[in-house]
Order: sequence, then structure tokens, then C-alpha cells
Amino acid sequence: MTPAEQSRRAAEICRLAPVVPVIVVDDLSHARKLAEALVAGGLPALEVTLRTPVALDAIRAMAEVEGGVVGAGTLLTPADVKAAKAAGAKFGVSPGATERLLDACAEYDLPLLPGAATASEIMALLEKGYTIQKFFPAEQAGGAAYLKSIGSPLPQVKFCPTGGISLKNARDYLSLPNILCVGGSWVAPKDALAKGDWATISALAAEAKALRA
Ligand code: 3PG
Repeated sequence: MTPAEQSRRAAEICRLAPVVPVIVVDDLSHARKLAEALVAGGLPALEVTLRTPVALDAIRAMAEVEGGVVGAGTLLTPADVKAAKAAGAKFGVSPGATERLLDACAEYDLPLLPGAATASEIMALLEKGYTIQKFFPAEQAGGAAYLKSIGSPLPQVKFCPTGGISLKNARDYLSLPNILCVGGSWVAPKDALAKGDWATISALAAEAKALRA
């Protein structure tokens, strides 16, 4: 899949809702219920980070939830890409971008949202055909003000910023023309997950969905 095709698909996924939950699953038995709660609240695109031993199995379980579009986050290596694809991930997200990672996404047909944080990184990805990128770590790298400035010389690149975004500042990003959606972990907080408090997670998802009427 070419970078341009990957970005076309990534744009469709990013437009499904204003927020993509960034999920860390520790307990595999929670995976399906968590996905159901988030999708029921109105957030269908889910990023499961490959940061725990059960992450790939969690993707497998969540991929069965109707209405969900489950992707793999924290992709670092070609092996991650291969494993994510085999687990049923429909898209990938990486904190940055390397040649090997980009080649693997082309080879395994996984639409990637590659990470960038500087004008040169954004331009290097744009040269390859990636018009949809993750801006990471968003708040620490300059936040909404930075993305607004980048939009002047590079309006053709659209972003999903993640890192330090919450209900409080999400609107600052979503009001910009070069932002398709934001990513964040606040909609699947650790304590609610540990308690299996799916009602709270659904309510947080609904609140996030309402960020864009
Ligand atoms: C991440 O990869 O951890 C995401 O950027 C989520 O960041 P957050 O926990 O600050 O929402």
C-alpha cells in the first residue's frame, strides 16, 4: 500500500470521531468490554498501544466488536507491523518514523499514521506521500499554537495530535483546519479500567464525541 493510499485510509479513520482513544490494556479480559464501551459512547476508532504483553491479543479481541475500527499504536519495528496486521489491526500509529517502519507498512498493507514533531520531519513524510500524520508529543512539542503555525506553510498536511491532550484542551486543536482528530488516553483511564467501570468509560467517550457536534 503506497503512502498516499495509507494516508487516504488514515484520513477516513480519523474522520470517524473527534477523538481516538489511546489504550493501554493490562488485563486481556477487559479488552472486549472496553472496546464495546468506547464504541457505544461514539468513538469507533481505537488505538491499542503495543506496550503490554497482552496488547496483540487485546487487538484480536477488540477487532470483533461491531462498529469498531481497531488499530495498533507504538509501532516501532517491522516485526511490530507484521504482528499488528496478523492480529487484525486496521491501522497503525507510530511515535516517529523510520525507513524500516515505513517499508514494513507498505509491505504488509497497514495504513500508518506516522509520527512527526518538527517541520523537517513533517516535510520528509510529506515527500514520501504521507499527508496525514500524528503530531507527537503534542503538548510538549508546542501544542495547538505550533500546529496553527505549521498550517501556514504546510496546509496540505493534516494531523492527529496526541500527548497531553484532554477534554480541557482538545477544542484548541479541533478548531484548527489542519486537525482531523486528536488522540488521548483520558477516555480510558486506568482506574476505571481496573474497576471494570464501563459506564464511566462510555460516558467519557460520549463527552469526547460531543467535542464536535
Ligand atoms: C501516547 O502515545 O501515550 C499518547 O500520546 C497518549 O498520550 P496521553 O496519555 O497524554 O493522552
